[in-house]
Amino acid sequence: MIILVTGTPGVGKTSVAKEIARKLSLEYVHVSEFVLKNNLFSSYDPVRETYEIDDEVVARSLNEYLKTKDAVVESVYPSLLDNADLVIVLRRNPLSLYKELKERGWPELKVAENVEAEAIGYVLQEAMDWFGNACQVDTTGRKAEEVVNLCLKKDCEDIDWLSDKRVQELLFSLDNVIISNEK
Ligand SMILES: Nc1ncnc2c1ncn2[C@@H]1O[C@H](COP(=O)(O)OP(=O)(O)OP(=O)(O)O)[C@@H](O)[C@H]1O
Ligand SMILES: [Mg+2]
Repeated sequence: MIILVTGTPGVGKTSVAKEIARKLSLEYVHVSEFVLKNNLFSSYDPVRETYEIDDEVVARSLNEYLKTKDAVVESVYPSLLDNADLVIVLRRNPLSLYKELKERGWPELKVAENVEAEAIGYVLQEAMDWFGNACQVDTTGRKAEEVVNLCLKKDCEDIDWLSDKRVQELLFSLDNVIISNEK
């Protein structure tokens, strides 16, 4: 069995995926660590302080590794996986995510791009396009344990951050960050 735990950076994937793996006695596979350990990155982006990957190279190697395994896989990129028995997309209110990513000390462009991605549901869309279904669970203000229970019960939610006026205002200010970085 493969359970994919995906979502924008900072939504809570690691805490939740590790706990699901522990509860179900499955292996925990962190795709970014897998990439680093196997030297699968293609370049480093100093502006975003991020390793870039060649999707096809990583997907081939990852799916080969997972072929004989039962695992909980944590990844920001759902489409790296050939198949999954359960696809969980963790969501977090963009205002709360913004605080989280700022506290990590990330470059402002990287914070802005990731918060925007969460606001519009970018990873959710990728998961839906790739797998045809996905279970969204909101982590905002919840304990990891509570989120894990919702995931295991497949107690999925419909999430629309864009209708929140405060999120719209945040997005407006983040647009300015992105535009000024493009200059
Ligand atoms: N309900 C929750 N579930 C999981 N983590 C939570 C929750 N509430 C708060 N957190 C906290 O949010 C922070 C970010 O979580 P975490 O590092 O697991 O995110 P992530 O999605 O794995 O990020 P990345 O993609 O960068 O690995 C942690 O400090 C974690 O303790
Ligand atoms: Mg993580």
